[in-house]
Amino acid sequence: MSLGTFYLRGFLIFTRYSGPYEIQGWREALMVKRNENPQELIQRLQKAKERLTRKVAKMQHASERKDTYISSMTHELRTPLNAIIGYSEMLQEEVTESGNLDWSEDVRKIHVAGVHLLGVVNNILDLSKIEAGKTSIFVEPFDINVMLDDIKDIASTLMEKKSNTFVMDVPAKLGTMVSDLTKVRQSLLNFLSNAAKFTENGTITLCCRRSQDKEWVHFDVKDNGIGMTPGQIKLLFRPFQQAEASTSKKFGGTGLGLTITKKFCEILGGGVSVQSESGKGSTFAIKLPAETQGTDTAQAS
Ligand SMILES: Nc1ncnc2c1ncn2[C@@H]1O[C@H](COP(=O)(O)OP(=O)(O)O)[C@@H](O)[C@H]1O
Ligand SMILES: [Mg+2]
Repeated sequence: MSLGTFYLRGFLIFTRYSGPYEIQGWREALMVKRNENPQELIQRLQKAKERLTRKVAKMQHASERKDTYISSMTHELRTPLNAIIGYSEMLQEEVTESGNLDWSEDVRKIHVAGVHLLGVVNNILDLSKIEAGKTSIFVEPFDINVMLDDIKDIASTLMEKKSNTFVMDVPAKLGTMVSDLTKVRQSLLNFLSNAAKFTENGTITLCCRRSQDKEWVHFDVKDNGIGMTPGQIKLLFRPFQQAEASTSKKFGGTGLGLTITKKFCEILGGGVSVQSESGKGSTFAIKLPAETQGTDTAQAS
């Protein structure tokens, strides 16, 4: 590497990773001084390189500590949340049986809020694992039609909230897929819950096809809801990003579902895509290999 390239690379790395106050110091350390003895210059650059290596190691350590912190925090949050969800469910049954309808509605709200919060916590944990490259996948064979039938029951409940009609456009005997069932299911439910959230009195269609060579499985979730402008589409699939600043106020959510879905599908060897028109609706698509390479044991991605 030439001295010029070394200087430039070092400077670029530190412009990106250092705080603004550090940049000036690094600029001076890496600057080639006029009439400087080459031996001194090499020594000075060598020292800067060592400093740089130490800094990178420190940052990696900090990032690992952040991941550990997030994963233990989410565990600490999940335990009491599961208790809130479980007990509010029990209480709701008891209160309903005793005929106290006023209380029943309040307890239902506690239960719904608990389930929502658990979803947010789980999303944050999923994202932190993805960012740390620690997502584990469990590849196993499963029947596509059986998986879609399971999804149908959950999706139908989601659709009722805004009086949407749910249509399954799925041929019989799609056969077996070898992939991570939980992640495929979670990805489809992410798309379906969005479709249900951003559509009212409309139709949401879940379509599934195998490619002609049988090597790929395509899933489409189509809605005729609010849709998005090309500018809004560009913002998608980024953590905590929603199409509009007002989305969270109007529709709730945190802007993590699409990012997680995209990453999951990429880890499984496929990808996602979107087509949408403002006011007309959206189609979110998933393309996955019918057989994700790997064994049927948990693997680090
Ligand atoms: N089917 C859809 N129709 C319209 N907008 C959508 C649809 N799906 C996703 N979006 C937009 O993408 C954003 C990000 O989606 P997502 O990552 O699932 O986050 P969240 O659902 O928590 O808002 C949403 O806030 C919304 O603005
Ligand atoms: Mg969502």
